[in-house]
Amino acid sequence: MAASRDDDRIRPVRIDCLAFGGDYNPDQWSEETWHEDIRLMKEAGVTMVSLPIFSWPQLEPEPGVYDWRWLDRILDLLHDNGIRIDLATATATPPSWLLRAHPEMAPWDAEGHRLEFGSRQTYCPSSPIWRENVERMTRAMAERYGAHPGLAMWHISNEYGDHTSRCWCPESAKHFRRWLQDRYGDLDGLNEAWGVNVWGQRYTSWDHIETPRKAPGPINPTKLLDFERFSSDALLELFQIEIDVLREVTPDIAVTTNFMSMFRDLDYWDFAEREDVVTDDAYPDPADPTSHVGAALNYGLMRSLKGGRPWLLLESSVSATSWRDVNVPKAPGKIRVESLQAVAHGSDAVMFFQWRQAKYGQEKFHSSMLGHRGERSRSFQETKALGNELKRLEAVRGTRVRSRVALVVDWDSWWGSSAVESLPSQRLQWAQQARAWHRALYSLGHAVDTVRATGPFDGYDLVVVPNLYIVERPQADALCVFVERGGNLVVGPFSGVVDATEKVHDGGAPGPLRRLLGVEVDEQWPLADGLAERIDYAGRLLKVPHWAEWIEADADVEVRGRYASGVLEGLPAITRRPSGEGSAWYISAKLEHDGLLTVFRDILRCSGLPARDEACVDAEAVTRADDNTDYTFLLNHGTEPVAFSLPASGVDLLSGNEVADRVELGAFGVAVVVSPRAASVPFITVTTPSAKERA
Ligand code: GLA
Repeated sequence: MAASRDDDRIRPVRIDCLAFGGDYNPDQWSEETWHEDIRLMKEAGVTMVSLPIFSWPQLEPEPGVYDWRWLDRILDLLHDNGIRIDLATATATPPSWLLRAHPEMAPWDAEGHRLEFGSRQTYCPSSPIWRENVERMTRAMAERYGAHPGLAMWHISNEYGDHTSRCWCPESAKHFRRWLQDRYGDLDGLNEAWGVNVWGQRYTSWDHIETPRKAPGPINPTKLLDFERFSSDALLELFQIEIDVLREVTPDIAVTTNFMSMFRDLDYWDFAEREDVVTDDAYPDPADPTSHVGAALNYGLMRSLKGGRPWLLLESSVSATSWRDVNVPKAPGKIRVESLQAVAHGSDAVMFFQWRQAKYGQEKFHSSMLGHRGERSRSFQETKALGNELKRLEAVRGTRVRSRVALVVDWDSWWGSSAVESLPSQRLQWAQQARAWHRALYSLGHAVDTVRATGPFDGYDLVVVPNLYIVERPQADALCVFVERGGNLVVGPFSGVVDATEKVHDGGAPGPLRRLLGVEVDEQWPLADGLAERIDYAGRLLKVPHWAEWIEADADVEVRGRYASGVLEGLPAITRRPSGEGSAWYISAKLEHDGLLTVFRDILRCSGLPARDEACVDAEAVTRADDNTDYTFLLNHGTEPVAFSLPASGVDLLSGNEVADRVELGAFGVAVVVSPRAASVPFITVTTPSAKERA
């Protein structure tokens, strides 16, 4: 891997307020319209816009012939009107002349088809021609605009991997071979790592190794896993090429690339290390009334990628998107609560795709801040109110979210357990499992951070590992130290199964976690579709769909739950092993939401942490803080009223009202209560007037 961190300096984004605005595509509009845009942006409280993301062809209409004039004018206009610029390097997509001159630069799919021009991201991440041109364009942009006074930060490319995250072309194959040579040294190393004696796959020349294109049957799993790692690294190298140019020409300007929330294909831990600020594009589905729960996990990841530093919500949708099968709009008020949820979770920005709704092209039905009806559109009225309201939250800028619970996110295990066809069951999926566990903790009242499997775990009382298929010594050791020092660890099913080359650990799962957890898995026990078993958990019967395990526990292990039906009846299912100052739990089964609530309520209480008696999926509370002050965001994501009980009184920054220890919020209501920093993370309980469990 050629890319490396250049230094540890974090460059600040050059903006002195919360960022509010969106993607701006002035090259789709007349200059007359630009003046109207500026007027309305100011009315709506816009403080930053992102451009010119897809404008390479407009900036370099012919090879080496640049036309900066229109961009010069709009950047000056924005700056003169006090609007900061998230300046894209314009490398998100190649101009047609580049692709026609170098057709070998186009990406291939897994079936060996070359993908055609006419959409976006029509490039192979490994293509030397593409890389060379990206470097050239980035340099041209940096030299032209690096000293522009309106420049807030560099926006590199756009949503890496959105359309092209993997490429199976001959150039990628060459690059893949080089990557494998770096990893394994020689062919013997590769043959050993890939376990090639199975199905006769021994390689006798590097040239024989191709990308894992469609084959007659299941493909070697280690090859597939390495291809996932390689593909993430190939885009990381592309990112680093731009970073290097920008660091050279504009050493003090922050750089970012906008992420796509919890996106499977790229290891965002690696990407975040290289940039100054994390930025995210978040599109919770309005058709799903609980999509804010998934958003809470995505935002937990965003703030954790750079150790809790504030991040920026760079894109979201005002109402409907246009890329789903059915694009449901957002009810009035929903955009406010969703936007403020991102701020609650550490974002110092609320931005949208896009400022003015397109008149033509692929995204003309995507809602925007300024809808097709212009000023009269609901989207403008709602975002204008939001932009102006956001000014009241200026005090939260720079503060950090307080959390005592972290969830391990590990891309290697995600890829290992999903790229492969040959698994005990396809019904235990990393992302689904992570989201289910997060949802239980969320419903019980906790804002959850994320963390790598190697930590750091400082400051957390509870670390949960929903599924860690690949475990090596460093991860096991880090988790062990966390527990020895008093931490509480919960490990989920199908963890510690293989090493980094996908070889099953000696003795089977949970491999290097064996001593810590005090259990051994004799057999994974997937359940046929439609069948479910039961676990007896302190007298409550929990339903087990899809996945169970035959486990045996050591004598010093407390069995908290046993299988209560089927072949596994009577065997341990959920265990807890006290170790050092802490404890290590193992949950061997997939559980439904109710079951997870029961088990995690117990785990939280055993870990000395509070848990809501009434789990409510619509009522969320998150606290951001600086050294002296807590800012507790209370959010009602639903349409039924909810009442929050606060540990202390304070003032609601949004309404300016003093609030006692009880706050009732109606549909999509939000309050941000400011109070002196409490010694421990404020825990907010909830009552729904109907008093029924709605999680
Ligand atoms: C992504 C892209 C944008 C736009 C939006 C639409 O986030 O970055 O260019 O296509 O999706 O939702």
